[in-house]
Amino acid sequence: MLNAVALIERKRDGGALLREEITALIRAYVAGEAPDYQMSAWLMAATIRGLDFAETAALTDAMLRSGRMVEVQSMRPLVDKHSTGGVGDKTSLVAVPLLVSLGFSVPKLSGRGLGHTGGTLDKLESIPGLRTALSPHEFASIVGRYGMAIAAQSEEIVPADRMLYALRDVTGTVQSLPLIASSIMSKKLAVSSRLIVLDVKVGDGAFFRDLAQAEEFAALAIDIGKAFGRSTRAVLTKMDAPLGRAVGNALEVREAIACLRGEGPADLEEVAVALAAEALCAVRGDRWEEARGKAQEALRSGDALGRLRRWVTTQGGDPRFVDDPTLLPQAARQRDLAAPRGGYVARLSARALGDAARLLGAGRLRKEDAIDLGAGIEILRGVGERVREGEAVLRLFAGSDAQLDAAQALLEGAMDVSDMAAGAGSHIVRRMGEEQA
Ligand code: URA
Repeated sequence: MLNAVALIERKRDGGALLREEITALIRAYVAGEAPDYQMSAWLMAATIRGLDFAETAALTDAMLRSGRMVEVQSMRPLVDKHSTGGVGDKTSLVAVPLLVSLGFSVPKLSGRGLGHTGGTLDKLESIPGLRTALSPHEFASIVGRYGMAIAAQSEEIVPADRMLYALRDVTGTVQSLPLIASSIMSKKLAVSSRLIVLDVKVGDGAFFRDLAQAEEFAALAIDIGKAFGRSTRAVLTKMDAPLGRAVGNALEVREAIACLRGEGPADLEEVAVALAAEALCAVRGDRWEEARGKAQEALRSGDALGRLRRWVTTQGGDPRFVDDPTLLPQAARQRDLAAPRGGYVARLSARALGDAARLLGAGRLRKEDAIDLGAGIEILRGVGERVREGEAVLRLFAGSDAQLDAAQALLEGAMDVSDMAAGAGSHIVRRMGEEQA
């Protein structure tokens, strides 16, 4: 019988766990023998004390082996993409079909909202009918036929991550470098992709606030990939302000579709293109600038939008919502927040907007909370743009006035307006991984 208390106490006191102990703890949790409160205590101890490389690799292994491995057959190179989490981060909805249009197949396991960040699965569920609960067989066969599938962790596929992810979301144990690494890498390693491309977010709205932390994370994830024989690359991208102009599930799907139609926004387009370019460099040996050019051209061609539409239909979604995103769910109430003075928007805190979106109903505060798919925030004036005093900068969407009040209070101090316009600048901070061209 597992002595979970002893393992919690050892981690609490800064000790290390053996591989067999981590495996036993994860097995017991998935089997229902270790309850949520013991797992929460261990996760909190791990968040505060950290895990060394051997423990992180053991945790990744235990999580990925908690379910079945998914073997995907495809004539095209198999590439996976994952973000460490951000605010307004709808990049997968653009980058995945773009990768398909560039000749890759993308079998992707995604997550739900985590902490103040959004999750691809919640966003996708704003398309009526779209199913992300797929069996391993269905998942592999959709990728084989259509080049992409996006699915949730399930009882058969990385169940440990499904359970730990939901628990971390509501116990203040998201912000841990080894827990994020094992969560992401277990999902990626459970599927037979040849290459893993990570979008490592850095800044105020990311789990890694500064460049050193983001680099440490990327190096750890790359080393875990290597330990499991997989090629892993990382693109570090900025997350100080939300990506694009939409934060919240249906709002973000709408914006991703606009991007696939060639209607921007520029920052989202830049990040999606960079991730696709990284795959071209790794698999085809392209040089960075040449690869970015190819990805940009593919995005502009509109082909990726067609891929997304076909995939939505395949996973049961109603394609009319892709053709006309105004049909997507809309929240019952809205409120505009105005600029305190005239000038240029100098800062829009991604962290504050992410927390506010959660209060508006776009994320969960308890495991059993339902999401309001139409809730969120629209950025009417972004960083660097001119505003007049009293002009609306943010538009909040929610189901009730109480939620709007709570989010408005939280957003006090989330924006700065200055006399000088800040330059937009690139969102790509640096690239890490094997022999980059
Ligand atoms: N994405 C994941 O899949 N897991 C994390 O812990 C953070 C981001």
